[in-house]
Amino acid sequence: MRHILNTLLIVICILYPIKQIAQENTNLAPTPPMGFMTWNYFGVNIHEDDLKSLADALVESGLRDLGFNHIFIDDGWQGGRDNKNNMIPDPKKFPSGMKALVDYVHSKGLKIGIYSDAAQLTCAGYTASLGFEEQDAKTFAKWGFDYLKYDYCGAPSDWQTAIYRYEKMAKALRESGRDIVLGVCEWGDRQPWIWAKKAGGQLWRTTADIRDKWFSGQKNIKNSQVLHGKGAGILDILNINAELSDYAGPNGWNDPDMLVVGLYGKKGAPSSDLGGKGCTDVEYQSQMSLWCLMAAPLMITCDIRNMNDATKRILTNKEIIEIDQDPLGKQSKRLVNNNIWQIFVKPLSNGDVALGILNISDKEQIANVNVLDLGITGKKKVKDLWSKKTFSLNSSGNIKVKLASHETVVYRLTK
Ligand code: GLA
Repeated sequence: MRHILNTLLIVICILYPIKQIAQENTNLAPTPPMGFMTWNYFGVNIHEDDLKSLADALVESGLRDLGFNHIFIDDGWQGGRDNKNNMIPDPKKFPSGMKALVDYVHSKGLKIGIYSDAAQLTCAGYTASLGFEEQDAKTFAKWGFDYLKYDYCGAPSDWQTAIYRYEKMAKALRESGRDIVLGVCEWGDRQPWIWAKKAGGQLWRTTADIRDKWFSGQKNIKNSQVLHGKGAGILDILNINAELSDYAGPNGWNDPDMLVVGLYGKKGAPSSDLGGKGCTDVEYQSQMSLWCLMAAPLMITCDIRNMNDATKRILTNKEIIEIDQDPLGKQSKRLVNNNIWQIFVKPLSNGDVALGILNISDKEQIANVNVLDLGITGKKKVKDLWSKKTFSLNSSGNIKVKLASHETVVYRLTK
């Protein structure tokens, strides 16, 4: 009997750590996460009925099958804590409870994300997770969430505390019994690209919140903190995020914030303040192009239940999405950055290369680009991923293209 017990004990001792390791899935975000996020359209005015119809729309529009496979609930869902300190959703917004909504979203072949903050209150003033990390992580896991956006409003500004608080939540999520992706959201203020992956996050915001506009007019901004309160546009965010390509890769992505594509300056939405009057379709198409070249998480925020043709065309371009989701996971390098042009090169897993050319000037311009000068060699065929036109590359490697103000062309170059 004693012999059997000893053997059993030894087996348990060997198996337990193996089980622990097996539970730690370190491949939670091999490609940048994609989906619909509530913030820029709904703000805190979210409701389970809307979330269900948004899940339906992801499926019906074909967006889910193109990779947009999450509903991300942002701030405003919280209803405080119960008498055991368990977080509860606002009963008016979620009358059926969180589990029912999560089950509904899962039944549509989608995943679902939730939001909290590393302080006592969130950015919009709701109950947050400081001091309740383990308990909240377990609650999120019990409800069935797959993703947590973890914000940093109300927390101290030093790096050490930020790293500590994110590590704490990451550990709590790992131990929650469910695979939950952690999105770090401290807006790039403490250079999270240096520490967030090690702390246990799979992506990290690199800038202040995006507004529905092209540019704030602030030139040469290197530090995201300067952008707070100024209203960061697509170009502002691009100018910061484009320089961080060395830090991105599978399971650790630079997050330049949500797509504003299709919002058209929606009044009253968080993306409409600080000059967020909306963009042109050319600019929205540029955002989609540039975010995909930068291997960014793709979080749609317009009302996908009512997209116009232009929005649908921009968001459902399969070949552009493939650039974003390429398994090699390289963020493009910005090789040219002057008063007229920005040029991006992204190597792809099958040896192809994506090339993006953006005209940042306020006039139509003709680009004359030599791909050999950009270090792209051995390529013969070129496909324009927006017009779908293909052409052969001449031996000199020159590409000439006319681009409208703020337009981005994206080419895929093949052998
Ligand atoms: C911060 C974040 C936004 C959004 C709001 C919610 O500003 O950066 O993305 O989550 O909080 O209050």
